[in-house]
Amino acid sequence: MPEVASRAHLEAMVPTIQRALKDAGIAASDLDGIAVTAGPGLAGALLVGVSAAKAYAYALGKPLYGVNHLASHICVDQLEHGPLPEPTMALLVSGGHSSLLLAPDITSDVRPLGSTIDDAAGEAFDKVARVLNLGFPGGPVIDRWAREGDPEAIRFPRGLTGPRDPRYDFSFSGLKTAVARWIEAKRAAGEEVPVADVSASFQEAVVDVLTRKAVRACKDNGVDHLMIGGGVAANSRLRAMAQRRCEDAGIRLRVPRPKLCTDNGAMVAALGAEMVARNRPASAWDLSADSSLPV
Ligand code: KG4
Ligand code: ZN
Repeated sequence: MPEVASRAHLEAMVPTIQRALKDAGIAASDLDGIAVTAGPGLAGALLVGVSAAKAYAYALGKPLYGVNHLASHICVDQLEHGPLPEPTMALLVSGGHSSLLLAPDITSDVRPLGSTIDDAAGEAFDKVARVLNLGFPGGPVIDRWAREGDPEAIRFPRGLTGPRDPRYDFSFSGLKTAVARWIEAKRAAGEEVPVADVSASFQEAVVDVLTRKAVRACKDNGVDHLMIGGGVAANSRLRAMAQRRCEDAGIRLRVPRPKLCTDNGAMVAALGAEMVARNRPASAWDLSADSSLPV
């Protein structure tokens, strides 16, 4: 509910900033600049953030940096693993996005190679969990169930992996439907649904496609580093398979801890700090929120 989200942002904004500064032991006057998500995202929520950031920057006499949400998902890894080598390849997988991005320069040049043409990966986890009556969010529960199941039990479809399909785009809607049909058929036959096997087999299909395409993107573009971010990066099977496939291909894998993978404020600050460090120009005072801001 966008309206509720905007109001919640409005109410939480000032107390959250004050608490963050207090917890970090930093005075507002010591900040180097103010970074804010300019997009993409929910227009109302973005507007609240951009307006607040402008007010703080203007009142404190600090430069303002409008940053891209997806680029900051990549940059956050620096907080955990140090400077990101460039170019970096990034696989961003959450409830809202599933993208492969090539970043020759994290502050000014992030190129989308491919993304989902229907559902995001996290969305597929959530929808399959709903069909299995496992609750929301579905990712963590399916991850847990899958540990008890056989990933080879059911062969679910791997979307867009044919020789003529786009190399870097994803599709999870057909997979979600295939899983739902399989479950319906079991229930119609009066048989018990093997939750662990369905979870493991579904998860395997998602993770297989994500890691295969991410490694392919690295090889095609001569990049020897892959970072994975977004809420789905918490998935244990994704981490394990990515690790194995990257090792086989001579690619170094970087995955931030789960708290930094999901949406957070530190990632916006991380990209803002990088803009300051690289002397990038600040945003103009007429910076506006753009719900569909491209990278
Ligand atoms: O980045 P995020 O916290 O929020 C946005 O979507 O922007 O990602 C949330 C998504 C949800 O769809 C959730 O089911 C998924 O990440 N997720 C997982 C796991 N933990 C969270 N998916 C698979 N395995 C997990 N362990
Ligand atoms: Zn996000």
